[in-house]
Amino acid sequence: MKLQLLGGLTAGQFLREYWHKKPLLVRDALPGFTGLLSPAQMLELAGREDVESRLVAQGKDWMLEHGPFSTSRFRKLPKRNWTLLVQSLDHHLASGAALQEQFTFIPRARLDDLMVSYAVPGGGVGPHFDSYDVFLIQGKGHRRWRISAQENLDLIEGLPLRILSHFEPEAEYILGPGDMLYLPPKYAHDGIAEDECMTYSVGFRAPGFEELGQGFLNFLHDELELPGRYADPDLALQKHSGELPKAMLDQIAEQLNQIRWDADLTTAFTGRYFSEPKPNVFFTAPDKPLTEKTFARRLASHGLQLNSKTRLLFSGTQFFINGEDFGATGSERKHLIQLADERYLPAGNYGDALSELFYDWYLAGWVNV
Ligand code: SIN
Ligand code: CO
Repeated sequence: MKLQLLGGLTAGQFLREYWHKKPLLVRDALPGFTGLLSPAQMLELAGREDVESRLVAQGKDWMLEHGPFSTSRFRKLPKRNWTLLVQSLDHHLASGAALQEQFTFIPRARLDDLMVSYAVPGGGVGPHFDSYDVFLIQGKGHRRWRISAQENLDLIEGLPLRILSHFEPEAEYILGPGDMLYLPPKYAHDGIAEDECMTYSVGFRAPGFEELGQGFLNFLHDELELPGRYADPDLALQKHSGELPKAMLDQIAEQLNQIRWDADLTTAFTGRYFSEPKPNVFFTAPDKPLTEKTFARRLASHGLQLNSKTRLLFSGTQFFINGEDFGATGSERKHLIQLADERYLPAGNYGDALSELFYDWYLAGWVNV
């Protein structure tokens, strides 16, 4: 299916020709789109403890401050050259989650968050590159993007922000409401507000292998089973008392070599890792929870929706929700796959076992009925 969002390309064509390969500018990707929230609503979000926000200003030097910000902070700012950024709009606004849904032609495990930036004229975060792909969607106002496939990605040292030391723009576009620019990872870019403007970025998760490796070793640590204890009943007299005995080294090597993993275990790790909420994400249990019976009735009559912060993924019969895993087969698996794909299950009878599972999730604040 050809998608207006992708300038008339199908998702498959986009993935083959552009994803990770080259930029794509789409005029009118979201016709009629003017943004999801007003500057005032955004400032309000930036004042909240549970919302991640940053303020970047460029005067003689680059300045970076982390939120939450009081409204008086913004009154002290000049008319030009600053920008405010708010992360995880997909968690904080239903319309943010809906916008992110348009990008599920990329696997959910790869989706990170929806960020919004508000900038006064001249504002921006400076020429930089990101380590992951990004779709930049223009809401209110206009932003001038200059982009470059340059290989030199050296950064200026000693700044609070990652700013390229040499930026050689190769193309320039002014984006207006509803226009979108896709950039592959490590593509140099600089977006400067032409007027008061707001830009939405759909970001992706691309963990470094070292970070993944460390995560996996922590996971293995929890799963580790090596019973028994070092013993040397056949200890032989040795010449140097300071020398590590050969038999000791052999015995320990043999034991450590029993630490093994298979595809099921790496899948379990991967599913838990990619479904784990970020450390600053907290779920709120319902104030006055429904009884299990009323919950089951509501599920049957209204269906169920994943909370916007919940991450549900699966592989085969292994399911992962918010960093925990469990197995499911048959019709339960079918329903859970539907929930993972659509984040919603319509009204219906899902059986006692699933209803119980969903009730636990409901008590944890992971789903809503
Ligand atoms: C912005 O919206 O100003 C920054 C987005 C980006 O460059 O990645
Ligand atoms: Co960027």
